Amino acid sequence: MPAPRIRKAVFPVAGMGTRFLPATKAIPKEMLPVIDKPVIQYGVEEAREAGIEQFIFVTGRGKHVIEDHFDHAYELESLLSAREKTKELHGLLESLPNTGAVSFTRQQKPLGLGHAVLCAQHLVGNEPFAVVLPDDLMVGQPGALKQMVAAWREIGGGVVVAAEEKPREETQRYGVIAPGPSKGPITEVLGVVEKPKPAEAPSNLCIIGRYILPPEIFSELERRERGAGNEIQLTDAMARLLGRLPFHAVTTSCARYDCGDKVGFLHANLAVGLARPDIAPALRLIINALRHSA
Ligand code: G1P
Repeated sequence: MPAPRIRKAVFPVAGMGTRFLPATKAIPKEMLPVIDKPVIQYGVEEAREAGIEQFIFVTGRGKHVIEDHFDHAYELESLLSAREKTKELHGLLESLPNTGAVSFTRQQKPLGLGHAVLCAQHLVGNEPFAVVLPDDLMVGQPGALKQMVAAWREIGGGVVVAAEEKPREETQRYGVIAPGPSKGPITEVLGVVEKPKPAEAPSNLCIIGRYILPPEIFSELERRERGAGNEIQLTDAMARLLGRLPFHAVTTSCARYDCGDKVGFLHANLAVGLARPDIAPALRLIINALRHSA
């Protein structure tokens, strides 16, 4: 029997964005722009490219502008139309999800990534689904999630996470994989640990913010056991599925930028700007001038 499709993606967006204060006092960090598009929109577009039809946002207080962003803005649309700014108007309309394709639920308390995913259980139901952490901006073609869905189909299901090798001193920032045999970009996962100290990390192969999960993850999350940082960790729930379901990591061909970090966010803006024909020439001049004046 062919594996079912991945139709739904969960976007945990309840985080307070304290690393970006004061910018994130009144604006959700997911709405900060990389060039001219909010970080969250890149994640949604990547999911759409991967075949996702239902976009589930796990929000928190103060995140309502994310809902507004994925809705019509009638005043703006009629103004653009009256001024015959058709390119801008089409850009806005094109990025709108289909009717009924977005849903929002709230994580009422910041109890961790696993808890955020658990909050989406009633919207996901009993089917495999994707999780996209929008802070991890993935740039490349085909998109990271599309590559993962292809791998998931090839493997025949189970858990699939995106992974990247990181310097060993950074393992405390990630879920870290105990790798088994690899075949091309796909590595079998023998174990996962959330945020281990470098000396205790099973490798330097780290999970980055894209997951394909089976519905069985919810019964593990429901145990609400606390892990690293006293939070309910998604990594710990995935670890409990080991041995019961296939578990693999995919090293995608995309570049990953950590938009949850100030320097990573600047890096994303520079890299995306340099790849954009409308921005790159002027940006390159500025970078060269700065290099010579430094
Ligand atoms: C989360 C996950 C971690 C993963 C990381 C990727 O951590 O818990 O396993 O490696 O995302 O960005 P966070 O960045 O929320 O601390």
